[in-house]
Order: sequence, then C-alpha cells, then structure tokens
Amino acid sequence: MPTATRPGSASALDPGRLLTWYDEAARDLPWRAPGASPWGVLVSEVMLQQTPVARVLPAWAAWLERWPTPADCASASPADVVRAWGRLGYPRRALRLRECAVACTDRHGGDVPSGPADLAALPGVGAYTAAAVAAFAFGRRVAVVDTNVKRVAMRAGAGVDDSRPVSAADRRAVASLLPAADAPRWSVAVMELGALVCTARRPGCERCPLREDCRWLAAGMPPWAGPSSPPQGYAGTDRQVRGRLLAALREADDPVPAADLALLWDRAEQRERALASLVADGLAVGDPATGYRLPE
Ligand code: ADE
Ligand code: SF4
Repeated sequence: MPTATRPGSASALDPGRLLTWYDEAARDLPWRAPGASPWGVLVSEVMLQQTPVARVLPAWAAWLERWPTPADCASASPADVVRAWGRLGYPRRALRLRECAVACTDRHGGDVPSGPADLAALPGVGAYTAAAVAAFAFGRRVAVVDTNVKRVAMRAGAGVDDSRPVSAADRRAVASLLPAADAPRWSVAVMELGALVCTARRPGCERCPLREDCRWLAAGMPPWAGPSSPPQGYAGTDRQVRGRLLAALREADDPVPAADLALLWDRAEQRERALASLVADGLAVGDPATGYRLPE
C-alpha cells in the first residue's frame, strides 16, 4: 500500500520534520531575527519579492539605517528613495514603500498595521506581502505563499511540479495545510526548503527532510503535464530599457538631456515608450526640452 498521503495532505509537509530541519539549516537573515521590527519585515518582503537575498541584504541594512521607522521614510523625497533603491530592480517598489510609510503614518499612528486586511489596504501591498508581514512580524496564522512555498507544497503534498504563478486556489490549498501551532515558523521553513533544497531545477531530495513522504519523489518526479505559462525574458524588453534610463537619472545631479538618454538605447520608439512609462509611473519628471530627472 502506498504511503497514506492524499493530494494536499498535511503529513507530506510534516511540521515536526520541517521545523527540525529549519532550526539547523536556515540562513541567519536579519529580517528573521527576533529584534526585527514590523517595518523591517515589510521592507524586506517588498525587496525580496523580485530580488535575490544576496542583493537585498546590503540594501535592506542601508534602508533601515537611514529610515528606521515608517515616519522617517514618509518624510523622505521620492528621489531619495529611488536613489536608495539603487539597482534592486522594479524601482516602482521604492515609491510604493514610501507611500506605504506615509499611509502607516497617516492611518496607523506611525505603526505598520498587524491585520491582513489593513496590510493589504496599504499602497502596493498585495496578498503575498500582507500575509508575510501578518505572519512573520505579528505571528498571525495565515498562509504565506510565494513561488517557493507553492513549489514545495505542490511537489510534496500533491505530487506535481506546477511552476505556474501562485493563484488564490494555491493560497487556499496551503492554508488547509497550516499546522495549528507555529504556523509562521512552518511557513518560513517551507519557503526556506524551497530556496535551499527543493529548488526549481535541481531539487536536493537526498538531503530533504520530506523525502520519505514526498508524493512527487515517490511518483518518480514526473514532468508537469498541465498548461504552462510563457517564460519571461529580460534582454531587449521595455523593462531593460527603463532600467538603463533610470540608472542614468539616478547617477545625475542635474536633469539629463534627452539627447544623452538617446545614446543609451538605439530604438527610438522603444526608448520613448520606456521614458513615457517612467514619467507615468512617477519615477521620472521632465520633457524633451528640459531633460529628465528623478522626482523631488
Ligand atoms: N524570510 C521571510 N520572508 C522571506 C522571503 N520572502 N525571502 C527570503 N527569506 C525570507
Ligand atoms: Fe522537493 Fe525532493 Fe524534498 Fe520532495 S523530496 S520536497 S521534491 S526536495
């Protein structure tokens, strides 16, 4: 008889084994330290969403050194936060974080709110970030589902390797697996297992604490047979052009003439589109006559 695991059954993500593994194997990341503030956790989650840990570490430390509380960040200018964001990528996140800080100051007396609904009402805070802050900063028992958590839950619990983006159904499925006790620690342990062991390309099943109950391993690691989502490239995309243009504005103290920006990307139509989108997003101000700069 096969091991008694149903799709999504909890035993495949056994809290005992996961938490024991996490105690020994987890990275010592500063936003997980007991002394990290809710603001520190929020900043880390926003930075980590699209940027690897190694690049977030110095940026996070510098950000919290400069703006240790939401009120400090709320009084910074948009140009300050975009500069501090540096090369983390997706720089709209810097403006959103500042708007978040303003909202915490205006609506919540300068504190990051603790409830998932109040969190999700903050500018730029989506379902993932709201859940992560509620769980990791405030100990709430809510499912925290990023791509790593989804991959582990799908492989170990459901026996499939589904790499499509996280859906509301995935969040409900993981919510049904949450243990009664220690749910936030279990969530970060699943996330860490996905980052360090159950990686997308080369899962390290031989050193995985879940290997005895993993349904995907037991089934012989079948490739995903369901619908797929297209891979996202970067080279040549509008995002790459935006990145180049914004880097030039970040490094300049004075407005950058349009002619200088033209040197950064040959294809005029794509360059104009990227520049217009930076202006529309509030990441740049200016026009062809005056040149372009970061917002003050
Ligand atoms: N710890 C808590 N949240 C995290 C995340 N999103 N990435 C890496 N480590 C984390
Ligand atoms: Fe992932 Fe392998 Fe562990 Fe299953 S046994 S959870 S596939 S690393």
